[in-house]
Amino acid sequence: MEQKVVLITGCSSGIGLSLAVHLASNPSKAYKVYATMRNLDKKQRLLESVRGLHKDTMAILQMDVTDQQSILDAKKNVTEGRIDILVCNAGVGLMGPLEAQSLDTIHAVLDVNLLGTIRTIQTFLPDMKRKRLGRILVTGSMGGLQGLPFNEVYCASKFAVEGACESLAILLQHFNIHVSLIECGPVNTDFLMNLKRTEPSDEVLEVDGYTRSLYDQYLQHCQSVFQNAAQDTDDIIQVLQQTARTLIQNVKP
Ligand SMILES: NC(=O)c1ccc[n+]([C@@H]2O[C@H](COP(=O)([O-])OP(=O)(O)OC[C@H]3O[C@@H](n4cnc5c(N)ncnc54)[C@H](OP(=O)(O)O)[C@@H]3O)[C@@H](O)[C@H]2O)c1
Repeated sequence: MEQKVVLITGCSSGIGLSLAVHLASNPSKAYKVYATMRNLDKKQRLLESVRGLHKDTMAILQMDVTDQQSILDAKKNVTEGRIDILVCNAGVGLMGPLEAQSLDTIHAVLDVNLLGTIRTIQTFLPDMKRKRLGRILVTGSMGGLQGLPFNEVYCASKFAVEGACESLAILLQHFNIHVSLIECGPVNTDFLMNLKRTEPSDEVLEVDGYTRSLYDQYLQHCQSVFQNAAQDTDDIIQVLQQTARTLIQNVKP
């Protein structure tokens, strides 16, 4: 069977990295994986995880989902000239009292999570439509289904991604393109470490004392949830892989 060409965003760590490793290590070499990341200086971790198994099943490309030109450049570097499965995974969290967030920070988070997902889909969609074939998998979140305190902007971005993807899915079924949202709960990745976070002890934090103490409690709760109840990336990869496989089997002749 012809290799399925997969492009994944945000492969420097976490879910993106694990998915790239799993697909590129498929024993029947069923996938050619374009593992993209915004900063190629971080590629060592991925290379170490895939341990030389990637010769003909993985290529690493630079791609920043906030930079249209870098998405176009990545597309140009896909030697097969097509993407069968697009995985929009890049994302960043933002935690803290809403009134303490600068508009620049809010904009930056929306730019990655919402506009980054839309830019990426926009870039690869016309080819998929022409071919009447394609699969789009998006790393959504429980925070896109249900609001979480001190995560207003992150949740807003993930709710918006839900709306965009659900709307697209209706149209794209006419083009044999399936859109799937994988709505993760807490997952053991670098997400908590990488998210943009306001510290309750921050002297310049202009919020009242009650909000500050509720935020402090929330952060402790959050740490304990991630320590005690977070899923392993393997659980998420299983769902993503299963979705990709099911969709491939459903391809119309
Ligand atoms: N972990 C969780 O608990 C959880 C729960 C629900 C949903 N999710 C979602 O799962 C996805 C993956 O997160 P993760 O848990 O694997 O966290 P992670 O380890 O922090 O990975 C996030 C990835 O996104 C990349 N990224 C950030 N901004 C980018 C940009 N402008 N262009 C391209 N890549 C960019 C990061 O690259 P850098 O290394 O360069 O920053 C990193 O590779 C995110 O969409 C997140 O919202 C995670």
